[in-house]
Amino acid sequence: MPGAKKRVGVLISGRGSNMASLIDAAQRPDYPAEIAVVVSNRPGAGGLARAEAAGIRTAVVDHKLFPDRASFDAALGQAFDAAGADLICLAGFMRILTDGFVQGRLGRMLNIHPSLLPSFKGLHPHRQALDAGVRIHGCTVHFVVPELDSGPIIAQAAVAVLPEDTDDALGARVLAEEHRLYPLGLELVAGGQARLEGGRTVFSDPGRTALGLA
Ligand code: GRF
Repeated sequence: MPGAKKRVGVLISGRGSNMASLIDAAQRPDYPAEIAVVVSNRPGAGGLARAEAAGIRTAVVDHKLFPDRASFDAALGQAFDAAGADLICLAGFMRILTDGFVQGRLGRMLNIHPSLLPSFKGLHPHRQALDAGVRIHGCTVHFVVPELDSGPIIAQAAVAVLPEDTDDALGARVLAEEHRLYPLGLELVAGGQARLEGGRTVFSDPGRTALGLA
């Protein structure tokens, strides 16, 4: 007998294509999560309209209206709590969260980063990958810890780097993999097959997690 669906809050800053991939996946009757709310720190984020079109509750917590990070994060927390969110997925959220916000949600907050972590953390990962001359690039779903792009890895997907690649061309191929990978990563966590334990991701069924590899 499967457990109740986990309620998920998605935190965005922009167009929300990864958010949309989570919303789409959560339509599946057997998917272990439902999207309870989409929160944006930017009032004009394109993802808000996409979420509303899908009938998902939305909230704006505009960071410019808060005097410091702690009060902004407290308001974010209230928005997720009000929607009864069990899990939070960062999806193109472009602010640094306070240690306190992250520590209080360890194991319950996920992020997607467009590189094969631990390579190419932070901004412009596709440019970093091209500059480094790697032949394989990709994306990573990981648990969020206070240090940026550094949490235990849940799932990864790889793409080949082509000789003629530009940032945009490479980024577009990675983005297509992100849209496949994030729903998988969330499914593993919401379904209880991947959990954060002792600073590592522990998988209850390692065979299933092989699907996280391209
Ligand atoms: C994605 O590449 C995501 O991995 C990164 O920012 C981008 C957001 O795109 N963190 P979108 O808003 O999900 O379309």
